[in-house]
Amino acid sequence: MEQELKRIVPDKKNIPPDSNHLFRQAHMFEQLMTMYNCAIREVQTKFEVLNDDLSVRNRRNPIEMIKTRIKRPESIAEKLKRQGHQISISSIVENLNDVAGVRIICAFVDDIYEVSNMFLQQDDIKLIQIKDYIKNPKPNGYRSYHMIVEVPVFFADRKQMMRVEVQFRTIAMDFWASLEHQIKYKKSIDNPDDIMKELRECADTIAETDIKMMNIRKKIIFNE
Ligand code: GTP
Ligand code: MG
Repeated sequence: MEQELKRIVPDKKNIPPDSNHLFRQAHMFEQLMTMYNCAIREVQTKFEVLNDDLSVRNRRNPIEMIKTRIKRPESIAEKLKRQGHQISISSIVENLNDVAGVRIICAFVDDIYEVSNMFLQQDDIKLIQIKDYIKNPKPNGYRSYHMIVEVPVFFADRKQMMRVEVQFRTIAMDFWASLEHQIKYKKSIDNPDDIMKELRECADTIAETDIKMMNIRKKIIFNE
């Protein structure tokens, strides 16, 4: 484990040997978060390039919006604890796939599959895992297409593969997930079962509408 960490965050020669443990840990954490931030930028650029290329070819943008986030330190600690892992820098690298997160919001469902396949075909992207919650929605109605990938990032003295979670959704799925997420964190809700049922119905209606909208778009030719 120690070796693995040294490979990912090499010892810094500019840290004096008498520096205290906490300082070293804080410095390594900062370094690691910077590395995840760089990985996010690499992935974001790849999708921006795909969007630019496809918009020239097809006269419309497949990607509406790209959102990115780095997991907050308290969320990192909470998830490691919840999963029974040690709370340490090397444990973050070994056990968490979602420290770096990129969300790709598309207008149409078929754009999600087209853009994500093009991304996966790039020869520097290593696919770790796919979860298709569009084909297999969660019981609460949640729909999105998730993947965990590793992307190479070129630092001053080395190339490092970094893990990134990429979530693909339509605008409507994103609207639904935002509200559902807010409700999850509300401590007191009257009739939670009724709300869950209503949300589930909305998710199904949204999925139906997404398909209808895609079929309408397919009848329109963008060639002016
Ligand atoms: P986490 O421990 O939450 O990261 O889940 P996981 O490791 O089992 O992975 P999964 O692919 O199921 O979920 C990853 C992420 O997708 C979550 O952190 C959320 O951002 C999002 N997500 C998954 N399920 C739901 C859901 O039911 N509602 C909402 N709003 N978001 C969800
Ligand atoms: Mg997560």
